[in-house]
Amino acid sequence: MKLTIEDVRSRFIKHFDGTTGSVYASPGRINLIGEHTDYNNGFVFPGAVEQGIIAEVKPNGTRTVDAYSIDLKDRVQFSLDDEQGPRATWARYIYGVCREMMALGVPVEGFNTAFAGDVPLGAGMSSSAALESTYAYALNDLWGENKIEKMELAKVGQRTEHKYVGVNCGIMDQAISVLGKKGSLLRLDCRSGEYEYFPWNPKGYQLVLVNSCVKHQLVGSPYNERRLSCEKVAAVIAKKYPEVESLRDANYDMLEEVRAEITDEEYRRARYVIGEVARVLAVCDALQKDDYETVGQMMYETHYGLSKEYEVSCEELDYLNDIAKEEGVTGSRIMGGGFGGCTINLIADELAANFKKVVKSKFKAKYGKEPIVIDVVIGDGARKLC
Ligand code: GLA
Repeated sequence: MKLTIEDVRSRFIKHFDGTTGSVYASPGRINLIGEHTDYNNGFVFPGAVEQGIIAEVKPNGTRTVDAYSIDLKDRVQFSLDDEQGPRATWARYIYGVCREMMALGVPVEGFNTAFAGDVPLGAGMSSSAALESTYAYALNDLWGENKIEKMELAKVGQRTEHKYVGVNCGIMDQAISVLGKKGSLLRLDCRSGEYEYFPWNPKGYQLVLVNSCVKHQLVGSPYNERRLSCEKVAAVIAKKYPEVESLRDANYDMLEEVRAEITDEEYRRARYVIGEVARVLAVCDALQKDDYETVGQMMYETHYGLSKEYEVSCEELDYLNDIAKEEGVTGSRIMGGGFGGCTINLIADELAANFKKVVKSKFKAKYGKEPIVIDVVIGDGARKLC
């Protein structure tokens, strides 16, 4: 069921003093291609989804933030001036955003807030970025005269992950959550910050997510370790090729040259990233020619790379990918950070209904639980609702 303003407002009224505030929303995301390329300064190609976070926020005239998570039925208070911040992870996202906005000079004051979300948690659809962007946007609106640019708001969310949650993520999730545009995907160059919208209007195809419901967790996961491997390989290559600042600048020949100086695991990881950076550009070209077969083929290549080279898949996701292949799905791959969550599937309209049925029954027969199928609708980025 789609989350509405009323769902949040009714709880805000109930849990606070009966008055209302302003309501903000930010979306989760899909990513057509370009996985684990953002922190390697490469390209990504995400789109915002209709599912996201909605929050009501009202200044309370103190230095305290009084926050209520409607989904978790948990209430946390913290002072804006506290150096440590709250312990609950969900509240640390809000605390981190407040502190980072204050560090940018926004005179944030205390507020009451209640929020809820309809992005499935741990599905690789960036529920945490949606939460960060909602509050970054709200605080900019309430206390920052909307002077902070959207990309800077995205960086506030990213710094929150790095400094308050411990995930050394790239910029993709926060950028698309802030910059998303209904009906368009966003090709983002994560080095320069330049971006371009690509209308997503596939003729005869649709995007479907299949959530394995294996919960992915980037906090404390091998995500940060992947990033370190990439940085190490880039540094080794840079000894010979000083122009290489990150794997974005490297190619397969350079990687072969340093093979003896890195581990096999590092070699495989770097190989995946170099291939993936090139695939994003190839997919953008193919889309401009309505060549969905090439888009799909690239998606399968990405899945192979994420599974066998980057090693961020799991048995259930590989099985979902196998089913997609068997059922003639044009393209299918793990989406997001990996270690669980969804596959994203590009499928011809006439095959979609049958695929959704078959993927549920085959997966259930093997794992005892139906995966959740989500039809992708590309929606808007962070905004004020009322
Ligand atoms: C997570 C991170 C992103 C990105 C993806 C993988 O979603 O938050 O920055 O690295 O994984 O593409």
